Amino acid sequence: MSTLESAQLRLESSPTSPAADVLRPASPRHSLLVRISHWVTTVCFFALLVTGAEIIASHPRFYWGETGNVLTEPLFKIPIPSSRNLVPTGYGYVLPDQNGWSRALHFQAAWVLVLTGLLYVFSGIIGGHFGTDLLPKKADLSWRGFAGVIAHHLRFQKSDEEDAWSYNVLQRLTYLFVIFVLFPLVIWTGLAMSPSFDSAVPATVNLLGGRQSARTLHFFVSIALVLFLLVHVVMVWRGGFKSRMRAMITGNAPAGKESK
Ligand code: HEM
Repeated sequence: MSTLESAQLRLESSPTSPAADVLRPASPRHSLLVRISHWVTTVCFFALLVTGAEIIASHPRFYWGETGNVLTEPLFKIPIPSSRNLVPTGYGYVLPDQNGWSRALHFQAAWVLVLTGLLYVFSGIIGGHFGTDLLPKKADLSWRGFAGVIAHHLRFQKSDEEDAWSYNVLQRLTYLFVIFVLFPLVIWTGLAMSPSFDSAVPATVNLLGGRQSARTLHFFVSIALVLFLLVHVVMVWRGGFKSRMRAMITGNAPAGKESK
């Protein structure tokens, strides 16, 4: 049963007022756990982006394999000046310590995101949120279903009221891809850069091609997540920014007309 159907089943009506004005769903559009985990993830993601950018700026070169440093040929480099350069000393050139604040905050935000994500995923599986709200319905998994949703977006059509209570097939597949493919990948490639993780489970690092390959893959998966975020925010805006944000913050979706 979809969120829309389950919400409709729980509608309460009053005999004294017009039905449209008093019909109110008994359950929120998004559960408290989904809302809290969504915003904690968003804050952590922004912290990871800022600190990640700072870490890259200190060494904007990417390699493939196990090792890579200023003396080896990179796979590619980002054309920005490195914020961390070789410093001459009495006994040769050394690299100064990597900026501590960005690495520390990057790890802290990553662990908060991982724990929040685990809570969201386990509760979503046990509570049936994924099965009900995110797994596409069989009937929608057809070229006609996809074409319909894409044509709707290409024609810049307004979302109907039903959309405020459910996700369309593209949204469902995208969210599932982000939750079960991109996030696990970004965590795996992130952990694979840690020397202790490498020595504890080297097979998982070798599978990626080595620690430097893990770093390069981590960078590309992060870019994919940023692209998702940009499209996600545009789609929220297109769907009705005020009402969708209200639903994701308070849990209340509009009972009447979609308010932009
Ligand atoms: C990295 C950051 C973000 C990720 C990974 C993310 C991911 C998601 C996911 C997976 C859902 C579906 C949640 C569920 O029902 O279980 C969702 C919904 C939603 N997100 Fe985000 N989100 C992010 C950032 C944002 C931002 C910055 C905004 C607002 C500007 C936003 C606004 C919303 C809204 C309004 C919904 C409900 C969509 C609807 O009802 O159509 N999200 N997000």
